[in-house]
Amino acid sequence: MKIILMEDFNPMTHASRGCLKLQKHVNCCSRLSIAFFVCSLWLLIPQFTMADDLVANEFSRPSRQPVEVVTGRSGIVVSETPLASDVGCQILADGGNAVDAAVATAFALAVTWPEAGNIGGGGFMMVAPPEDDVVCVEYRETAPSVVNEKSFIDWENRRHARMAGVPGMVRGMQQAHTKFGKLPWKDLIQPSIDLARDGIVVNEHLAFSLNSVLKLNSMKTEPRYAELREVYAHPKNYFWKTGDKLVQPDLSGTLTLIANEGPDAFYEGEIAETIVQEMERQDGFISKQDLMNYQAVVRPAESGTFNGYTVYGAPPPSSGGVTVLLQLKMLEALKLEADPDYFWNVDHVHLMTEAMRRSFRERAAWLGDPGFIMINEKVRDPDFAKALANSIDPKRATPSQEIARDIPLTEGPYESLETTHFSIIDADGMAVSNTYTLEGTFGCRIIPEGTGFLLNNEMGDFNWQPGYTNLQGRIGTKPNLIAPGKRMLSSQSPTIVKQDGKVKLILGSPGGRTIINTVSELLVQILLFKRSAAEAVDGPRFHHQWFPDVIKLESNDDCFDQMEPFLKKRGHQLESLVDRRQGSAQVIEVDQKTGSITGVADWRRGSAARAVAPSKNQAQ
Ligand code: DON
Repeated sequence: MKIILMEDFNPMTHASRGCLKLQKHVNCCSRLSIAFFVCSLWLLIPQFTMADDLVANEFSRPSRQPVEVVTGRSGIVVSETPLASDVGCQILADGGNAVDAAVATAFALAVTWPEAGNIGGGGFMMVAPPEDDVVCVEYRETAPSVVNEKSFIDWENRRHARMAGVPGMVRGMQQAHTKFGKLPWKDLIQPSIDLARDGIVVNEHLAFSLNSVLKLNSMKTEPRYAELREVYAHPKNYFWKTGDKLVQPDLSGTLTLIANEGPDAFYEGEIAETIVQEMERQDGFISKQDLMNYQAVVRPAESGTFNGYTVYGAPPPSSGGVTVLLQLKMLEALKLEADPDYFWNVDHVHLMTEAMRRSFRERAAWLGDPGFIMINEKVRDPDFAKALANSIDPKRATPSQEIARDIPLTEGPYESLETTHFSIIDADGMAVSNTYTLEGTFGCRIIPEGTGFLLNNEMGDFNWQPGYTNLQGRIGTKPNLIAPGKRMLSSQSPTIVKQDGKVKLILGSPGGRTIINTVSELLVQILLFKRSAAEAVDGPRFHHQWFPDVIKLESNDDCFDQMEPFLKKRGHQLESLVDRRQGSAQVIEVDQKTGSITGVADWRRGSAARAVAPSKNQAQ
C-alpha cells in the first residue's frame, strides 16, 4: 500500500489535532479513505494556523538514496544542491575556470540551500592552480570590535543578533575572483539573481530543511524571526512540499546590488546600512566600522604527506588542516591497514578514535586565530604525532580525562549548542575545495529587513568561558577566547590531495567538529584502503572529539552493530546516531593514469554532482 507522506499531503498539516491522532493509526487503515476524510475536513476549515508542531515533528528526513556519481574530463562540480551544481557547471561550460565556478556556486547555494549556503557567513576556499602552490582564501567571520573575552560568559541564546560575527563571504568571493577568476564578476552572480527572482522548485531536501525551522514554536512567537517567516514561509502558510516554488525577491535585489556595485555595496553601501540598522533594532554588536574593516586573507595551505600523497588543508583560523594531518600522521605511525572483509573493523574504530581523541585535545590546547596567538609548531611536527601514536594502547581506550594534562577540567552542564561544502575541477585541472557556513542551521535566524539573507551565529565557535573546559565538550582554553577583530576557531576542512604534483582528490563536508573526522575517514578509505570515492562516501562514519568521551556511530547500516560489544570491552562509550547523519561529503577524484575524473555526491543531504559535457572534438 502506498504510504501518503505528510510532506506530500499539505491539508493534513493544517488539520486539527484530533485528525493528527488519526494520523498515528494510518498504518492499519486505508490511507486513501483517511486522506479523503481529512481533505473534506480541510475544506470546511476557513483559516489555518501556519504550523502545527505535532504534525511537523512527524516530518521524516528524506530517505537514503544511492550516492550520485558522474564522470568526465571537461570539469565537474559537486555541491549540496542540483541547482547550484548546474550553475557552477554552466560557468565552466561558458569558459570560466574552477574559481569562477566556485564563486557562482557559492552565490547559488545562498539561494538554493538557505540553511547553510550564504552571503551572511564565512568560510575557507582552497584553490589549487594548475602549476602553482595550493592556497587558502580565508574569509572567516570576525568578532565585532565591542566584544571581549567576557562578553558571552553568561549568554545562552544562540539564535540572537549578538551571535553574528562580521560576515566574510562577499569579500572572500571578491578576493578569490580578483586573484584567480577569468569571467566578469557580474556574470557569476547573474544566475543566482535569476534563481532568486524567478523562483526555484523545492525538492524533498529543501522542503525538509525549510519545514524544520518553520515548525519551531519560536518562529511563531518571537518577533525577531518575523523576517525569516516573511522570506521563507510558504505563500499560503502551508508547510513546504516537493514541487512548490520558492521565490526570493529581496535576495534577488541584494544580489543585484552586489553584482552591479561590487562587494562594497555589502561592506560600505546600502546593504551595510541595513545590517547595522538591524543590529541596532535587535541589540546586536556589528558596527559600520566593523563591516568596513573586514578583509579576506590569502594564506598558505597546511600540508603534509600521507601514504605517499600530499594533503593540503585549511590553515588556522581553521583547525581543520592541522587536526586532520595530525590524525593521519598518527595513523601512519600505527600502520593502520585495510581489512578486505570489513569497511571498518574493531581495530580501525579503536585506533582512529584514539587518534581523534588526542588530536582534538591538541586542537583545544593550541589552535586559534594566528593573528592573535602563537601556534605551537609541534602540532605540525611528524615526530610529535609519532609520540602521540606511541601513547595509544592498541587494545584499551584511554579515558579522555587522562590526556587533559594542563587543561583544567570542570564538571558542568552541557550547553547545547550549518555548513555546506562544494568541490570543483575545471578542464585545465584547477581545483577548488570550499566549505562555508552560517554555523547553526539558518544561522542566527535573523534577516536584515528587506535583504533576504541570513546572518551567521558564528560567535558560538569561540570559547566563551575562560578556563572552563567540561566533560560534555565545552572548551575554555586560551587560544580561542574572544577578542575584538579576532576570527573564531573553525573545524571546516576543505581539502585537496595531490599525487606527484597533480590533483588527485578534492573533498570536504559540513558537520561542525565532525567535519574533521569525516574528512580523515574519507582520506583513510580512499588513500590508504584504496576504496573508490563512491564506496568511501557511501559508507558509515563515526566521531569522537575528546569530550564528551563517547564514540558517535552512524546507524544507517549495520556496520557497527556487531562490533559494539568489542568496542565496549576495550573501554569505549558508544552512542548510536539514530536517524542522524554525519556530514555530507562532496568528493572529486582524478584517475591519474587515464585522466578520467569522477564526482561523487553524498546521499545524506541530497547533494548533486554535475559534469561538463565534452566538446564535440574531445575524446571521452
Ligand atoms: O566553522 C565551524 O567549525 C562551524 N561553524 C561549522 C558548523 C557546521 O558545520 C554545522 N553543520 N552542519
